Amino acid sequence: WAPKGNGIWRYSTMLPLKSGISLGEGRTPLVKSNLAENLYVKFEGANPTGSFKDRGMALGVTVAKESGANKVVVASTGNTAASAAAYAARAGLRCYVVLPKGNVARGKLIQAALHGAELVMINGLFDKALDYVVNYGTKYAYPLNSFNPWRLEGQKTVAFEIYEELGCPDYVIVPVGNAGNISAIWKGFRELAELGLCNKLPKMVGVQAEGAAPLVEAWARGVEEPLFVDEPNTVATAIKIGRPINWPKALRAVKESGGFFVKVSDGEILKAQRLLATRDGIGAEPAGAASIAAAIKLNIGGVAVAVVTGHALKDPDVIEITAKEVRNADELIELLEK
Ligand code: F0G
Repeated sequence: WAPKGNGIWRYSTMLPLKSGISLGEGRTPLVKSNLAENLYVKFEGANPTGSFKDRGMALGVTVAKESGANKVVVASTGNTAASAAAYAARAGLRCYVVLPKGNVARGKLIQAALHGAELVMINGLFDKALDYVVNYGTKYAYPLNSFNPWRLEGQKTVAFEIYEELGCPDYVIVPVGNAGNISAIWKGFRELAELGLCNKLPKMVGVQAEGAAPLVEAWARGVEEPLFVDEPNTVATAIKIGRPINWPKALRAVKESGGFFVKVSDGEILKAQRLLATRDGIGAEPAGAASIAAAIKLNIGGVAVAVVTGHALKDPDVIEITAKEVRNADELIELLEK
């Protein structure tokens, strides 16, 4: 028995680099869901910093380090920031995270701060933060947003893990924000097919929140370009994005695979989050539960994998807490007897 590498690096034969920085990302649980027949949950919240971003950062930060950079920069709705901060810390790089003030969930802010990143707040949403990084950040620091192709190379490894446990499913359902992950996962499956391992490729289903659905709206109208949203709005702050930079890649993934885009409301997202937690035992942040909301809504036949992209603790503020108080043992017993 000899492991070939830590984290994503165990797939080094499928990656553009052979080894690099790792926090043991990947090997996340694939859980059969109780919520629908033939539905499996790939719980990416179980990654080291609690989201799928870690797969991409392992590769991206390795490239940053090897190219001699001493600083990295990202715009983020929070998870990219948390992941970049942790992997940059591990690699000994400085990390700048540009964040939309008031629109980043608390757990993610705490992570970025804890790992020693420089937190920079802007007045505006993610799209503006990303503009800043593209137009200014890249001149001073190595950018680790998902327009960086190395990130996507790391993220494609989730397809390999799904294949190892399940073979190739009929559908893979993915929450879409800046639209990098769905194209990365599609690339992973395509590469499996090239090796003759996946006879029938899965259909990719992209899920957006109703108030931040540029790709869904374009898809519904048969338009080739997204209908950008100036003021995106959703409880799922991770995917509160109006102008996804990777839209051409995401569109290609969905088209080539014979899949589709679908939107879910905030109510459906929160309900799915609750169901996933109380019936499957899996805690997702709202954006992560968007794929579950879609799976429930669509009731698609065939084997489906819903990618749950981030952990519940990322966004504690959306979770309502109700507690009962007891004054003595008798009152406790009364409760327990119910
Ligand atoms: N789910 C979660 C939990 C995310 O954090 C993100 C993106 C997505 C889904 C969408 O993935 O952008 O590849 O389509 N979060 C980015 C961030 C934007 O800054 O953390 P995508």
